[in-house]
This record gives sequence, structure tokens and C-alpha cells, in this order.
Amino acid sequence: MCGIVGYTGGKQAYPILIDGLKKLEYRGYDSAGVALLQDRGVTVFKKEGKVAKLEAHVGVSDVASHTGIGHTRWATHGEPCDRNAHPHLSRSGRIAMIHNGIIENYAQLKTELLKEGYVFHSDTDSEVLLNFIEDIQIKNECSLEEAIRIALKRVTGAYVILLIDQAYPDTIIAARKGSPLVIGIGQNEHFLGSDASPMLAYTKEVVYINDYELAIVKPDELILKNLGNEIITPYVQKLDMELAAIEKNGYDHFMLKEIFEQPQTIFDSLRGRMDAQKNQITLSGIDAIADKIMAARRIIIVACGTSWHSALVAEYVIEELCRINVEVEYASEFRYRNPIISSEDVIIAISQSGETADTLVALENAKEQGATIYGLVNVVGSSIARISNAGSYTHAGPEIGVASTKAYTAQLAVLQLIALKIAKLKGTIDDQKFTYFIQQLDAVPEKVQWILDNQVEEIQRIAKKYSDANDVLYLGRGYNFPTALEGALKLKEISYIHAEGYPAAEMKHGPIALVDETLPVIFVATKDSYHEKIVSNIQEIKARKGKIIAIVSEGDNRVEELADDIMVVPNCDEIIAPLLAAIPLQLLAYYIGVERGLDVDQPRNLAKSVTVE
Ligand code: F6R
Repeated sequence: MCGIVGYTGGKQAYPILIDGLKKLEYRGYDSAGVALLQDRGVTVFKKEGKVAKLEAHVGVSDVASHTGIGHTRWATHGEPCDRNAHPHLSRSGRIAMIHNGIIENYAQLKTELLKEGYVFHSDTDSEVLLNFIEDIQIKNECSLEEAIRIALKRVTGAYVILLIDQAYPDTIIAARKGSPLVIGIGQNEHFLGSDASPMLAYTKEVVYINDYELAIVKPDELILKNLGNEIITPYVQKLDMELAAIEKNGYDHFMLKEIFEQPQTIFDSLRGRMDAQKNQITLSGIDAIADKIMAARRIIIVACGTSWHSALVAEYVIEELCRINVEVEYASEFRYRNPIISSEDVIIAISQSGETADTLVALENAKEQGATIYGLVNVVGSSIARISNAGSYTHAGPEIGVASTKAYTAQLAVLQLIALKIAKLKGTIDDQKFTYFIQQLDAVPEKVQWILDNQVEEIQRIAKKYSDANDVLYLGRGYNFPTALEGALKLKEISYIHAEGYPAAEMKHGPIALVDETLPVIFVATKDSYHEKIVSNIQEIKARKGKIIAIVSEGDNRVEELADDIMVVPNCDEIIAPLLAAIPLQLLAYYIGVERGLDVDQPRNLAKSVTVE
């Protein structure tokens, strides 16, 4: 959370920083600010709210500068307001700093500084760290770089920090632990960002900075060091991403664009990995740890939010096809509850961003205890991808809408491949069934396209009809129980309507008390082995006058007769159904959010990449 950008080079820094902040706004939008190195010293502009408000605030001020840093905030310490916005200035006014992360021992550092007479102008942990650095620099009469190194050895928590100091023209000093930092290399210029999107228009050569590394960045020089002051050779990588991938391309919102991209992104996630002719799935990550998987006593899947929902689907699929015990864990619980882990465990981590703090730390802990980590990640080069022993990318491309859509279905697609691949290795699937599932998966992109071509108008109508609801219940069974959870999560985050997902049969044990003629109940009722059961559940809700909205398989007249409204998906095997059923629920949440006049790409209080615990 929080987006950071930096630029030093021959161009004007301000427009690059503003454009970069807009690209990173998905990481937080409580406030925005920039600091520029100018002839007269360091100038800071900052404002509560989105980047557009910052631009209006800056207006026609003098922003001429070739070196600057910028920040878009997701508030942790201190309410969103101008005062708490970054960049912060040090006591001398000489140094400006932006920070993404949390300094856990900031209170102790603050007490020390208060005793020294420091006065703080914000409630942030970041301002404390900045003054702690300056205090060290003054007392030790050392360089800024040295002061940062000393300070960071005393700091606990997570950070990416970028500093500019009027004593060091053209220079940005950056350091990272636990939050992402990418440096883009241009012609006599460098770009810094929480991800590569701010630099994509200028360069495709990037360096991903690792934990405990410090970068001294000048237009024509990038020096990388560890906290022990040893020089590290930067590992330059080529970005495989086009600018169009991070633009709206005519859609009203990124979320809508990303929903409509799914036929392609699902195709991309499967591409080159399955061969129906040869009856083969190629996943080099699984091959790399095949011996561990064969010997594993169980697979633990660790994730948060939407990724946790795809983990639940995977639990059902892997146990069914591979006959191996699977446990699904919330990363935030797993990391703190002292789980029993050994070298006989294989852990699959699922994460779109690859930066989710809870997932990352849960993996670090498990790795220390000998477990093998398999990362299923969307963002190439992200922290989770890098600490994994092996893994697969989901290849969904950049997901910018805060609510996850295409990354979710790409996760589901690759998890299906993983299950099939493991089943083949373990011999728990016969050739005929294997071919059948490959064919089923192969048909998914086309079926998703069918939903997008044929159901959008009807879903818009349903969205209008129920957009005033106060509560919505989502029910599903079996493979589509997680679909119900995901549908409810999408609606909550986009429309601010209270929504709950439940296993359909479980509603009799409590939630049924909520049902009256005002409650919309969304059933994920595609044709599967639970179908008769879910039809009974629909009857139970109908008998209590709840409004029934059902996702049904094409041609299912029975549920159509019972339901007030239906959203249709093509027929498919029940194992594949979550990939299709997710689409109408994403669209429904989107159109309800739009109907309510909300900012669906940047819902309140949320941020895309949750890099704080
Ligand atoms: C919901 C959503 C979040 C994320 C969660 C995990 O739409 O996007 O629930 O799924 O924060 O994020 P990743 O997958 O990046 O680890």
C-alpha cells in the first residue's frame, strides 16, 4: 500500500511524478504529494485526497526541477489529511522523504527524539524515521547514505523509503525492506516506483531492489549497496509489458476492462501449458519440485482475500483429482498461530500482487521451517515470486482495478492445471479423464466470451433492480461455495452493500433468519452433482419470500421457473464451473457500483497491494 515514485534525469520531474502517481493510485488514495529538488532547496507540495486534488493545489506554482519524489498514501499512522500526507520534511527542512510501510518501533524512536527537542508536524511513523535519520547524520557528521544505513539497522517493520537532500543535487537515495521497489534505467535518467507502471513509457530495463538494499540514484549512475556498505551488482531485467496494458483503452473503468479481458487472460494463463494431443501439461515449476510433491504429506495453500477464495476452489479440485490432503489458510492467521510445519509440507502461496505482507511473512516463516514454497503470482518479479522455491505466473497482465477480477480467474485456471499435473504425477487420474479436463479447460475462454456477449444487458437490468438493497446473501455449494464468497466480497467492496457468502445448506443454521421479501439471495446454481440439493435450498428461500437471483447453466428451465431473475452461463464440468460463474458476479457487482454512483476502480478505504499487515 502507498505508491512511491521518483525521477532524476534531464526531463522535468514534476509531470513524470504526477503521471506515475496516477498509475500507482490503486495502491492508496488518501493523499498525494511530491518533493522537488530546486535551486532554492527542497520544495514540497501535498494534499489530502487523490492526485487530481494535488495537481489543482499545485496550480501554476514553480515546479521546475529535474529530481523529485512522489507519494500516494493509504493511511496507517494518522488520519488522511494534508498534515499526514507525504513527503515529510526533516527538522532542518533540508531533506524530504516518502515512505511505504510501517515502522513498528516508531514510538520508541519518537520518545528519544522528543527528548532531544524534536517537534513533529504529523502523526506518522514516517516523519519519525526521517528525523531519526537526520539526527544520526548531524550527530555522527556523516553522509546521508551512512546515516540511513545506521538508522535502518535500528528500525523494525517494513519500508521503502526515498529521500532527497538539498546537499546532494540530482540524487535520490532509496532503501527497501518488505515493500516493493523497482528502478527503471533510461538514457542518463532513472525512474523509481512501487511497480514498473510509472516507468513503462520511458524504459523497459528495470532492477528489482531486494530487502536490505540501498540505492544511490543519480541521472547517470545507479549504485546498489547492502546495509553493510558492500557494493552489489544490479541485476537488470527486461520488462515484458506494454503501455496499453495499463491504460483503460476506451472502457469507463479498469474493472470493466479487466472483466472483458478475461477470455484473453484465461487463454494466456493456459497458453503453452497444456497439450490435448499429447495429453500433457507442462508446468516447469511443478516439475522442479515434483519429488517434494510426491513425498508431501499435505499441501497448504496460503492467501488473502480473493486469492484465498481461489485457494478454496483449489482445495476441492486437488483433493478430488489428486487424493492429497489440502489445507487452506488465511495468511494473516497462519503467520501468527504457530502452525506445525515440516519439510514434508508443500505450501502454495497465491497472490495477485506478490507483495501482500501477511502472505509474504507467512511464507518466510514456513520456509525457515523447511517447507517447500510454490508461488502462484501475477506480478512478475514480485517479492513472493522471488522467495518461492518454484512457481507459476498467472499471466493475467497488470490488474489495476482495486477489485480483483481477471487475476482471480487466471488463478483458477492455473490451479486447475496444477491439480491435473499433480494428478498425472501421482497416477490418480486416467488418460481419458485427463484429456476430458484438458478439453474442458480449453473451451473456457470461448465460454467466458459467450457470457460477455450475451448476458451483459440482462445483468445491467438486474443490477438496476437490486441496487438499493441493504443486504445480499450469496449461496453456493461444492466447487461453487467459494464462488458465493467471492461474489459477496466483490459486491461489498464495489457497492458498499453488506453481502455474505455461505454454503447453501448452511443457511438453515442461522442466516435464513435474515430472509424476507426485501432480501435478494443470489444462488450459484449451475448444473453439478449438488444441483438437486441447491434447488431444494432455492425452494426454502422462496417459501420465505426472499428474492431469488440465480446463476444457471444454459437450458436449466427448472431453476429459471423458480427464480425472479437469472444470469446464464454455458454448460461445463462442475470442476470448471467456478471459472464461468465468477463472471456474472463480477459484472453484477460492477454495475451495481456504477448504478450507485461509486468509484468502482478505487473503492473507499481499500488499496490494491496490501503491503502492511
Ligand atoms: C479483492 C481483492 C483482495 C485481494 C487480497 C490479496 O477484490 O483484490 O481481497 O485479493 O488483498 O491480494 P493479493 O492477491 O495481491 O495477495
